[in-house]
Amino acid sequence: MLTVDDLEIGFSTLHPLAGVDFSVARGEILGLVGESGSGKSMTAMSVMGLLPLIGGRVTRGSIRFEGEELTTLDEARYRRLRGGRIALITQNPMTSLDPMVRVGPQIDQGARLHLGLDARAARIRTVELMARMRIPDAARVYDLHPHQLSGGLRQRIVIAMALAGDPELLIADEPTTALDVIVQAQIVQLLVELVRERDLALMLITHDMGLVAQACDRVAVMYSGRIVESGPVAAIFEDPRHPYTRALIGCIPRPGMAEGTLAGIPGTVPSIADLPSGCRFHPRCPMAVAACRDRVPQTVAVAADHGVACLLAGAASGDAP
Ligand SMILES: Nc1ncnc2c1ncn2[C@@H]1O[C@H](COP(=O)(O)OP(=O)(O)O)[C@@H](O)[C@H]1O
Ligand SMILES: [Mg+2]
Repeated sequence: MLTVDDLEIGFSTLHPLAGVDFSVARGEILGLVGESGSGKSMTAMSVMGLLPLIGGRVTRGSIRFEGEELTTLDEARYRRLRGGRIALITQNPMTSLDPMVRVGPQIDQGARLHLGLDARAARIRTVELMARMRIPDAARVYDLHPHQLSGGLRQRIVIAMALAGDPELLIADEPTTALDVIVQAQIVQLLVELVRERDLALMLITHDMGLVAQACDRVAVMYSGRIVESGPVAAIFEDPRHPYTRALIGCIPRPGMAEGTLAGIPGTVPSIADLPSGCRFHPRCPMAVAACRDRVPQTVAVAADHGVACLLAGAASGDAP
């Protein structure tokens, strides 16, 4: 459904994404995982056609949705796609919700705009959708304002808003990060159910490998603007080939750990203004050899639908380079 190929984006001379490749199929949940600053949100913004809003642009590569090239799409057509066939769920519900407007009418908007429903039909559909989101007493909650709801209920409202236009592709950017673990698990469970019953494609963006294991079919691991490893979840967890993937798996976040950090490997994702040469992970990589400083690793297939961009990719897991 969605194929991103060699995507590079630019903000003046800086390139937060430098050749990103991945795809998501109908009915599939793809986890896009990596530490804070890897470029996950930039990837979401690129697919949504929102880069111009923050001063960026696509400088190379392609984004195809159901065969249609999006990088050259004009804004009028993008506006129909956005919130219609492709919808975004953001991390912080308060940025998606208007604090001054009752939540129900905010959900109505999607159905009115993209499905052409009148006010009455949109309201009926919204209450049904809210009930499907397991919002208790949906008809009453329809008339409440965002601040009258808990964080978990607000996030369910945001998901209902995303579904209002009947999308085929859902992009969820850290949809549960602001929530406590119990509510987080419920929301993820709900997203998985919605994908299955509506045959959606879901791109689930997270820094949490635990969430990937729990919810995703396939995973793309992102580091410093590149996909360093991708494949089916089972293959990635059973036979991770990239040292960064291994570090992420070794660091499935536990309570008390700072968001987006790896306990196992020191350092942080490099600044896009000061990128390491060669493999961008080499300064932090416990297995790096001299060549890693000079050569940009190309993605090689290590198994069916399992690719890795590491000079040492041939080595079996656990082996020394
Ligand atoms: N508005 C912006 N303009 C330019 N660079 C940005 C902007 N927002 C984020 N960046 C940079 O882009 C890179 C990727 O950021 P982001 O996609 O937000 O990462 P993630 O979502 O994985 O935490 C970071 O280096 C960040 O500093
Ligand atoms: Mg982000």
